Amino acid sequence: MQIIFAAHADAHADATSATHVVFAAKGGALVGSAVALDAAAGGALARAVGTARFEGDAAAFVELLAPAGVSAARVLVAGLGDPAKADAAVFERIGGAVAARLLTSGATAVTVDLTGLDGLAVALDEAAARLAHGATLRAYRFDKYRTTMKPNQHPTLAALTVVGVDTPPAAAALDAVARGVAVTRDLVSEPANILYPESFVAHVRAAAPDGLIVEAFGEDEMRRLGMGALLGVSQGSAREAQVLTLRWNGGEAGATPVVLVGKGVTFDTGGISLKQPPGMEDMKWDMGGAGAVAGAMVALAARGAKVNVVGVCGLVENMPDGLAQRPGDVVRTMSGQTVEVINTDAEGRLVLCDVLWWAQETFKPAVIVDLATLTGAMIVSLGHEHGGLFANDDGLAAQLTAAGAAVGDKLWRMPMGEAYDKMIESAIADMKNIGPREGGSITAAQFIARFIKPGVHWAHLDIAGMVWASKDDALWAKGATGYGVRLLDRFVADNFEGV
Ligand code: BES
Ligand code: MN
Ligand code: ZN
Repeated sequence: MQIIFAAHADAHADATSATHVVFAAKGGALVGSAVALDAAAGGALARAVGTARFEGDAAAFVELLAPAGVSAARVLVAGLGDPAKADAAVFERIGGAVAARLLTSGATAVTVDLTGLDGLAVALDEAAARLAHGATLRAYRFDKYRTTMKPNQHPTLAALTVVGVDTPPAAAALDAVARGVAVTRDLVSEPANILYPESFVAHVRAAAPDGLIVEAFGEDEMRRLGMGALLGVSQGSAREAQVLTLRWNGGEAGATPVVLVGKGVTFDTGGISLKQPPGMEDMKWDMGGAGAVAGAMVALAARGAKVNVVGVCGLVENMPDGLAQRPGDVVRTMSGQTVEVINTDAEGRLVLCDVLWWAQETFKPAVIVDLATLTGAMIVSLGHEHGGLFANDDGLAAQLTAAGAAVGDKLWRMPMGEAYDKMIESAIADMKNIGPREGGSITAAQFIARFIKPGVHWAHLDIAGMVWASKDDALWAKGATGYGVRLLDRFVADNFEGV
């Protein structure tokens, strides 16, 4: 969708759209340019607002078709809620709601008029930028495999004009972030016959902005490095595992990078510890952590972030065949520690432990954050509202929590500690790959913690409940959410750029 910002409606007469959005505050009073539009329409807007069950709540609408006296064929009165509470997030939601409502409505262009809105919780140009961002995020679709969509199911909305501000300074960066979110959603949406480790790499290569360095290695190199845990997971798959590295050097030459690591299990059958059939198709998005890392790297590169960041994705398919690893197998990780694989379905940690080790050896980071759809238990704990946050550092945990709250990718901190760590002791190896059922997300985090080098500030985000949505929401249609991209972008921007 094309986005245009215009200071004045009349300066862009050619962009006058057949659909016009104006605002009403909580309680229903028309505000901003809605007042003049209502006068031109002979009071039709106020009558419609008074007739409909509409209280001016944020992102609610009253729709008028072909009102006399105005050029627009369709007028939407959008609720703003209490203007004093209308912050950036509210404008994102409104933008998302406009897009959702008009995407397949037949309308090809819409003008949202912010002129004259005041007393807001955010500057008008920021409001405009975030409204456009919300619309862009919500307008994403993944239709490439639908060949029989009816004409009226196809998106029509192609352009959004936001009137009342010059192009906001924040718009370009938000555009870059939306691009990253779309990359993540594409990766997460693709089925596993299309998206496997090597094709994941190819997809990211094709999507990479200029300056993002994309490199990958396969199983020969993994064997040379001694990545026995990752290789054990891959052993039952006909697809070759990959470690994908994305490097963005926008900061000082040679400055230590922030490192982001993603679990990229392109399909998780469970392996020999095979999952039940119902819902197994969901495991195509078991690469959501890697998808978020790739999307975040695209966003950072596309907006020219002034920082050095490395994204590393451990890409592998977890399949059961005659060569697959068995419960009870002992594998040697790159770190030298050995693991008894009690359950081949607890594979994400086996991938992460080697990739995290390699990333620390290679890039010597002070800060490392991993993202993974690691445990079903995380969904039991936090539902689909928060990702789980585990960290060995309170400051880092606070930074991530704040970044998530600012962009709507919410996180909730979980506990860790020695008592949990004990639960993964093994009788035959240094550790086993599962603990008891209870505290399953925490013992998974404890497992990963054993592969973090002393002095490294580390956080682990278990995003199992967040990467896929079973229903539409303000900023996404049901399906891939793109969770993590905005979070990581904000985390990097607020803590590592210009400081
Ligand atoms: N990828 C799954 C976790 C998952 C489950 C994510 C459901 C999203 C939805 C992970 O590899 C897994 O299978 N974890 C097991 C661990 C168990 C065997 C200790 C789980 O959560 O059941
Ligand atoms: Mn699994
Ligand atoms: Zn998994």
